[in-house]
Amino acid sequence: MVNFSWRGSCLPPAILVLFAQAGIPRVLADALNTSTTIGIYNTSHTPSNLPWDTYNYCNGPHVNAAYYVLPESHTPGVKGSTLVYVNSMMRHHKRTPDNLYPSERALNPPSGWNCTDFIQMEYAGGAAQVYHETVIPSWHPFASQIWAGSCDEGHLTVEGLADAIQHGKDFWSVYHDTLGFLDNVSEDELYVHATYELLTQQVASGVLYGMNPTTVDRRVPIYAQPELIDAFVPAYACPAADAIRTAYQSVPAWSDHLVQHQALQDHLAEMLGVQGISAWLSWYDHFFDTFTSRTCNDHPLPCNASGACVTWEEAETVFGIGDWEYNYIWNAAQNASTYNSLTFSVAFEELSMNFKRFRAGNETHKMRFYVAHDGSMIRLMSGLGFGKVAPLRWPELGSEIVMEVWRDASADQHVRVMFQGTPFPSLEWVPLNDFISLLDASVVQNVFETCNTSSSSS
Ligand SMILES: *[C@@H]1O[C@H](CO)[C@@H](O)[C@H](O)[C@H]1NC(C)=O
Ligand SMILES: *[C@@H]1O[C@H](CO)[C@@H](O)[C@H](O)[C@H]1NC(C)=O
Ligand SMILES: *[C@@H]1O[C@H](CO)[C@@H](O)[C@H](O)[C@H]1NC(C)=O
Ligand SMILES: *[C@@H]1O[C@H](CO)[C@@H](O)[C@H](O)[C@H]1NC(C)=O
Ligand SMILES: *[C@@H]1O[C@H](CO)[C@@H](O)[C@H](O)[C@H]1NC(C)=O
Ligand SMILES: *[C@@H]1O[C@H](CO)[C@@H](O)[C@H](O)[C@H]1NC(C)=O
Ligand SMILES: *[C@@H]1O[C@H](CO)[C@@H](O)[C@H](O)[C@H]1NC(C)=O
Ligand SMILES: *[C@@H]1O[C@H](CO)[C@@H](O)[C@H](O)[C@H]1NC(C)=O
Repeated sequence: MVNFSWRGSCLPPAILVLFAQAGIPRVLADALNTSTTIGIYNTSHTPSNLPWDTYNYCNGPHVNAAYYVLPESHTPGVKGSTLVYVNSMMRHHKRTPDNLYPSERALNPPSGWNCTDFIQMEYAGGAAQVYHETVIPSWHPFASQIWAGSCDEGHLTVEGLADAIQHGKDFWSVYHDTLGFLDNVSEDELYVHATYELLTQQVASGVLYGMNPTTVDRRVPIYAQPELIDAFVPAYACPAADAIRTAYQSVPAWSDHLVQHQALQDHLAEMLGVQGISAWLSWYDHFFDTFTSRTCNDHPLPCNASGACVTWEEAETVFGIGDWEYNYIWNAAQNASTYNSLTFSVAFEELSMNFKRFRAGNETHKMRFYVAHDGSMIRLMSGLGFGKVAPLRWPELGSEIVMEVWRDASADQHVRVMFQGTPFPSLEWVPLNDFISLLDASVVQNVFETCNTSSSSS
């Protein structure tokens, strides 16, 4: 039996109220105490006895009409401002695990994962409207490597699609119903960008349907870059960045936490059959993914063929370590900002170009809406300086950053950044030019060549 120091527990309500008064988003307030993991990891529906914006890994809090705050109501001197432009980025919603244990099948209930309710349409325009179903024959000689049922790895679940549709409804309730900013779901107004990963495109379709159900009968373009150079995963190769990260994951500031939790890791590795596999043991990412994908989708934590099961307590410890690792890699480590800039430079550049195009009066869309991944969200959070306010946590499924441009009565333009549905403290009202400078600070000149140099300098 292993003893863990890192246990889930709740801050007393008085402390939560204190944070609310201080204007610190609860998702950050929760993470201020690194020995405390507060959050929901087993349902998309935050229990009603908890604050609406409680960190919910399964379905992050996002803008919605019920809790949306206009700038006038809390920022002095900005009365009469009008929303004029928006860029937004969100993570996809819940899915099956991305990572498979070597003996995956043995670690799932015999029924496996059921995706028959999720119809995957992928067809060439002007041709038959085919859809595809994943089949996993039980006689398949390699079937022990994946669960039974009808789901692939990293497959959006039908519940994840439902969350995406609700996300679109909530978004529309603010930017259409409350503010009258968007009129309709049309390319004139809304430019939608996903990644080469199919589930981000499927989430985009869910969000658009939530915004306007008539899209079910329409063709709506969404854009994505080729996998080789996709800036928004990000997926482009950057050996120089890899070397920088390897260096800061080779020092005690990183390795101490692995040592501290060695007993837990040994126990999990033996139970789940991943001994000696560095992809599983060099960090907790794969444990985190395989546990949260299960708990968020109402699947049991893994039990092995001898009947040993991962306990909820062990899983919560892994959730806390996951937060710590995300904060270290993308925010706290020495040289993390260099790594972050190199790997997300191209995305920062595109965002910066969007706001510059808008500033110059050349923007033809009212909103640019990006659907991406946890790795995209954490890099954006870090580059925007969220980590200077409080430690970052693993971006939730459906987590969201909305960058609003408001024009006041004297025609000054300010950016307000909404994070998990609430104005972010350090970016509540920033002059547009300053916000563009902030984005530009994460753009690396000659990033293609810099990424390709073997002797990295930072
Ligand atoms: C952190 O936790 C300690 C004790 O567990 C408590 O006294 C302190 O107020 C907490 N700090 C914050 C910022 O939550
Ligand atoms: C979810 O986890 C919490 C502990 O964080 C527990 O109290 C609750 O009963 C769990 N709910 C379900 C549906 O398993
Ligand atoms: C999968 O789910 C659908 C819809 O809930 C159900 O009709 C079907 O029987 C399930 N398939 C299996 C193999 O459990
Ligand atoms: C959407 O609204 C714009 C005006 O804002 C209009 O020009 C366009 O025709 C509308 N498109 C649809 C599909 O309703
Ligand atoms: C950060 O980069 C500097 C300059 O390249 C290097 O000297 C230092 O060792 C790096 N720190 C870590 C923790 O890798
Ligand atoms: C199941 O996990 C237990 C506890 O870690 C371990 O002793 C046992 O060998 C595992 N069984 C299988 C079949 O992997
Ligand atoms: C805006 O458009 C004008 C005219 O086409 C062009 O000269 C200028 O470079 C553009 N500026 C930006 C930032 O897009
Ligand atoms: C990238 O590195 C390879 C191997 O060192 C080299 O041949 C190539 O010219 C480099 N490309 C750039 C753009 O620096």
